[in-house]
Amino acid sequence: MQTCPPPAPPASGRGAIDPPPQWLDELRARTSLSTLIGKTVKVTKAGREYKACCPFHNEKTPSFTINDEKGFYHCFGCGAHGDAIRWMTDQRGLPFMEAVKELAQAASMDVPAADPRAARRAEQAKGLHDAMAAAQAFFEEQLGGIDGGDARAYLQKRGISDAIRRTFGFGFSPDGRGRLKSALKEFGDPMLVEAGLLIDPEALEQGNAKKRESYDRFRGRLMLPIRDIRGRVIAFGGRILGAGEPKYLNSPDTPLFDKGRTLYNIDRASPASRQTERVIVVEGYMDVIALAQAGFSEAVAPLGTALTEHQIERLWKMVEVPILCFDGDSAGQKAAIRAATRALPLLRPGHSLCFAKLPPGQDPDDLVRTSGAEAMEAVLKAAEPLIERLWSHELSAMPLDTPEQKAALKQRLRAITDAIAHPDVRAHYAHEFRERYDARFFARRDNAPAQRQARGGGDGGRWQRDKRGNWKPPIPSAGTEARAIGASGMEQRLLRAILAGLLRHPAQIAPHREALSGLQIGDPMLAQLLAAMIAASFRKETVETQALLTILGQGEVYNMAKGMLRADTFTLTPHRMATDPDRLARDLEEAIRVMAQGPELETALAEATRRFRNDVSEENLAEQQRLRALKADHDSRLAELAQSEDIV
Ligand code: UTP
Ligand code: MN
Repeated sequence: MQTCPPPAPPASGRGAIDPPPQWLDELRARTSLSTLIGKTVKVTKAGREYKACCPFHNEKTPSFTINDEKGFYHCFGCGAHGDAIRWMTDQRGLPFMEAVKELAQAASMDVPAADPRAARRAEQAKGLHDAMAAAQAFFEEQLGGIDGGDARAYLQKRGISDAIRRTFGFGFSPDGRGRLKSALKEFGDPMLVEAGLLIDPEALEQGNAKKRESYDRFRGRLMLPIRDIRGRVIAFGGRILGAGEPKYLNSPDTPLFDKGRTLYNIDRASPASRQTERVIVVEGYMDVIALAQAGFSEAVAPLGTALTEHQIERLWKMVEVPILCFDGDSAGQKAAIRAATRALPLLRPGHSLCFAKLPPGQDPDDLVRTSGAEAMEAVLKAAEPLIERLWSHELSAMPLDTPEQKAALKQRLRAITDAIAHPDVRAHYAHEFRERYDARFFARRDNAPAQRQARGGGDGGRWQRDKRGNWKPPIPSAGTEARAIGASGMEQRLLRAILAGLLRHPAQIAPHREALSGLQIGDPMLAQLLAAMIAASFRKETVETQALLTILGQGEVYNMAKGMLRADTFTLTPHRMATDPDRLARDLEEAIRVMAQGPELETALAEATRRFRNDVSEENLAEQQRLRALKADHDSRLAELAQSEDIV
């Protein structure tokens, strides 16, 4: 296939310190792209090119092509496009220089050092990496050996499978002060101290005259390697086997390890997130591991600290809206709010956070263990957007009984908006907070006739007349009010089809009057038209279109009705059917019923989802799933009706 567009501009790093372009060209030329991609996805030869199912989007028939000669890949399905370096940055999620280094290593090329200091640092890091790899091998060996019995029993007790144990590289640090130190003595004390594997008492107690020996940092702990994006071990977390303090002992910051820039499991979660288009952020090591065992490979955890800006930016390289899934207890929720607050100055179009709420007292590890992967999936599906989380946090943060307290809420909301740096995002937050605030505290309470006996419950969903006497749609309230009809394109289409059908067959208005007046329509013009049609239907002459139009008068509503009567406007039932009034009546009845159900089902589902979120029980899950299925059925019926040939 020679239709591939020319290569995209090559992936690039930060410019000044990038290797020279000629060197990068050489690197690309020496890399076999099909072999590189073939490591991740199944690649088959097709003529002079290779084909594969695109790893950037879900597909069953391959539209992803690889051209080794030109050194680029291209997906005709989703447009993914790039060279070997871009593959490493986009598919594997590596930073530019990391991608270059890994490719260079495979191609036996030396990355030119930017300056002598950088070269020295690289040399030193190489030693540290080797030491960490050796420590990892040592801990793994110990877990399999005679000293590892208790640790193995612990893993078994926690239900960690052998496969997961190997995947995550579990190890064991034997209980002694010099076990690792002597096993790794070839690296020398200073390097092992620098790697954070040994503790140097001299460094701890400066000025202490007595010379003391350095000793193993991790003793008698279950060891978890922390890896960088390339899968190299850069630190360890060690869990105590029984009760005791600290529960987890982590490596100190070292030249390889900066806690605030690291996310546990990033090396596996980054490629996984490209498949699932999702990233889950949990609080602990064990949550990540339990989730992986339950089939969620795209989970990461910060390492015992609040999410940093670096970590948020790192998450955004994987997906636009990572899901934060913190414990339902107050500490977890505080951490969630802290992360939300930290994200505000960083928000930009498309990029946000959302928040999944676990049942109180359960972490993801507990939840998948007790309630299974579906319960976790339901929790993730019910994740709230950032704005929702902030709004409900502020609503419950303080009492809102007095005018002063209500005004204080407004101030807190303003502080949130002010923290947002991006002007468009900030404007939308300000607008939405203002609407929610006004709807909650200043909503007007008068009724509109067409909607009077409309839908049951609530008082925030009513129409209001403005100064000029035009009807205005209800202000959405913060509660669980059903939304108005017409939110989706499908609904809008069906609604217009129904109205056009009624205009053509006005005799059908009266028999459906009750159902019609129950419809709460979002578009004020359409709502006015329907109200006028209902009012006209009380008059005998309204069996004829022309008579109906006369009653509608000459205003905007009349013009709209005329427009809808134009030949190209779809109606519910084709003209050839119009002679069968029974068929017409049945069609209308179903269409009206289906249309009215949408908002009702949505409200019920939101309600059930909230109940489930607050109390993760099987009944609540079953009810939530039942409504979800009903809603799905409804959506497809609505789409069928709105798109059926009959309507055109
Ligand atoms: P948790 O105390 O919630 O532990 O700490 P957990 O993940 O549920 O652990 P298990 O299930 O009891 O084994 C959450 C995270 O906080 C950090 C660790 O990263 C841990 O995974 N932490 C916690 C520490 O770094 N040190 C500690 O002493 C405790
Ligand atoms: Mn736990």
